[in-house]
Amino acid sequence: MRLLITGSRGQLGRALERLAPGFGHEFVGVDLPELDITDAEAVRRAVEAASPDAIVNCAAYTAVDAAESDEAKAAAVNGGAVSTLAETADRHGIVLLQISTDYVFDGTALAPIREGQATSPQSAYGRTKLAGEVAAARARRHLIVRTAWLYGEGSNFVGAVRRQLDGGNRVLRVVADQAGCPTYAEDLASGLLRLLDARAEGVVHAVNSGATTWYGFAREIVRLVGSDAEVVPISTGEMPRPAKRPAYSVLDTSRLAALIGAPLPPWQDALERHLRAGR
Ligand SMILES: NC(=O)c1ccc[n+]([C@@H]2O[C@H](COP(=O)([O-])OP(=O)(O)OC[C@H]3O[C@@H](n4cnc5c(N)ncnc54)[C@H](OP(=O)(O)O)[C@@H]3O)[C@@H](O)[C@H]2O)c1
Repeated sequence: MRLLITGSRGQLGRALERLAPGFGHEFVGVDLPELDITDAEAVRRAVEAASPDAIVNCAAYTAVDAAESDEAKAAAVNGGAVSTLAETADRHGIVLLQISTDYVFDGTALAPIREGQATSPQSAYGRTKLAGEVAAARARRHLIVRTAWLYGEGSNFVGAVRRQLDGGNRVLRVVADQAGCPTYAEDLASGLLRLLDARAEGVVHAVNSGATTWYGFAREIVRLVGSDAEVVPISTGEMPRPAKRPAYSVLDTSRLAALIGAPLPPWQDALERHLRAGR
């Protein structure tokens, strides 16, 4: 296959570019400033020029808190631009692979969330990503993959914890009442490529196996880097942030496992590989 990867210099885009050749796929990667996906004419030209079999949209406005005061911009990137991608995919008869988020859920679920469960975003980011799902679903051939708590080469929670440790902070206060699935961009990228190979369509949840809290995630990072820093559990209320996060957004990945033959590896194993890779 030939892939057009938008947002190619983000965490997921980079991982996809590393792995695509191993799956026998060619790719064209584009990101700001050479392609702004909110520029409809530029999107049409880029698809025309790349002549791909699939558009893999990794471009997004991902600043969850900033989106609260900048929803119009977030909506243009996460929602409006996806309409253009969907129309362009249809014009070329190709697949649109759109990445979405666990933040489309409200956090009230009591068990891992399946693809068909009701969405109810609680933040501007979540609303705009849901608009992106609706737009992508208008493409005749679409695959919408919801992931969560992503880290890889770029700015993310793992890097933030490491910076605290490197800066000499011996006590980390981390939220312990939000549960989710930390997900390694490399493992997600591999899952996406296998989903494309399987000709999967519709909505699929793709996260590393298992679940934890941000507190549990931080403790594992501290343990794996061999630090003796203390991680102190705190409540969401003790760390007010502009955007509301779901208290529980663990995603059920049975559909992914059925489509590609196995679930993604456990999150602890993924974290260890990420830290060893030193990216
Ligand atoms: N990160 C997470 O925890 C998380 C969780 C769940 C789902 N997701 C979803 O997973 C996907 C990949 O996330 P990620 O963590 O890889 O994101 P990322 O690292 O923030 O990368 C997104 C890329 O898109 C680019 N971009 C932003 N606006 C653009 C525009 N108008 N036109 C073209 N490119 C644009 C960004 O460029 P600049 O850096 O220059 O802005 C960046 O290179 C996104 O759909 C995201 O919503 C992420």
